[in-house]
Amino acid sequence: MLKRPKITVVGAGNVGATVAQYAALKELGDIVLTDIVEGVPQGKALDMQESAPVEGFDSLIIGTNSYEETAESDVIVITAGIARKPGMSRDDLVDTNVKVIRQVVKEVAPRSPDACFVLVTNPSDVMAQVAFRESGFAPERIIGLGGVLDSARFRTFIAQELKVSFEDVSAFVLGGHGDDMVPLARYSYVSGIPIDKLLDQATIDRLVQRARQGGAEIVNYLKTGSAYYAPGASIVAMVESIVKDKRRILPCSAYVTGQYGVNDLFLGVPVMLGKNGVEKIIEIELTDAERDALHKSADGVRHVLGKL
Ligand code: APR
Repeated sequence: MLKRPKITVVGAGNVGATVAQYAALKELGDIVLTDIVEGVPQGKALDMQESAPVEGFDSLIIGTNSYEETAESDVIVITAGIARKPGMSRDDLVDTNVKVIRQVVKEVAPRSPDACFVLVTNPSDVMAQVAFRESGFAPERIIGLGGVLDSARFRTFIAQELKVSFEDVSAFVLGGHGDDMVPLARYSYVSGIPIDKLLDQATIDRLVQRARQGGAEIVNYLKTGSAYYAPGASIVAMVESIVKDKRRILPCSAYVTGQYGVNDLFLGVPVMLGKNGVEKIIEIELTDAERDALHKSADGVRHVLGKL
């Protein structure tokens, strides 16, 4: 009999609950939602499960405060920790979130030795490194959220500017998931047409800047927390590529060992995501300016890591 993939989501807050919901709607597998706050994962999981007859999905969704139910997961999405408030950078979260990640990884890693981790808690490149150190897992099994979300924002702004279908726009964002991210306009297209054939440079620069600040733009509206719909959708695209072994090429934070001239660091690069996690890191040609921007972004991630 076919065994369904098991997806654990740690942290039943805004991002975690949205991931569980999108994953259930896509029937990616059975879902365990866990959190330290009593009742919240149970309540949200049951509420979501009760949408199954209406939506027509058969994923089972379990809410719990323990880690026992997470055993033998195929993918573990870690969203536990605190989110940004207006005026905060992702790096301002590091002291609190690093403790949470260490504690969570200690619990989940031994129970699911074959899982892939998707690190969402910010700053996600740093948290991926922490999870890598704490878990002892092969680096291919640790992936941080970054480029899928950043490029989704960039794609949205390009589509809105050109008044074209969102789905026809593809874009690439490399580097750390922070203010120094590197949106690559040169590798961004509308149905195969390079965007610089459709938009002037000043407009592209404005959209790049808005993509860089995309997370902060939402935080400034929400005031009490940060984005979760686009993050949730982006995470689920990554989870889907892993559990279905789709081998999509997605920009994610992966452990680089010399690629792009960067060593031993989790950084946003194009990766092939499949059943083993990062199946391959793709190296594309960069201009000197793009490479410098990527290195500046890598230095930023390294700087935060150095403070731990
Ligand atoms: N173990 C399990 N859950 C925890 C722990 C822990 N040690 N510490 C905190 N949590 C839970 C909280 O109880 C809360 O339900 O993590 C959840 C976080 O949810 P939100 O506060 O709603 O934050 P969210 O918007 O989901 O963002 C979570 O993802 O995008 C990043 O920057 C964001 O770091 C943040 C994370």
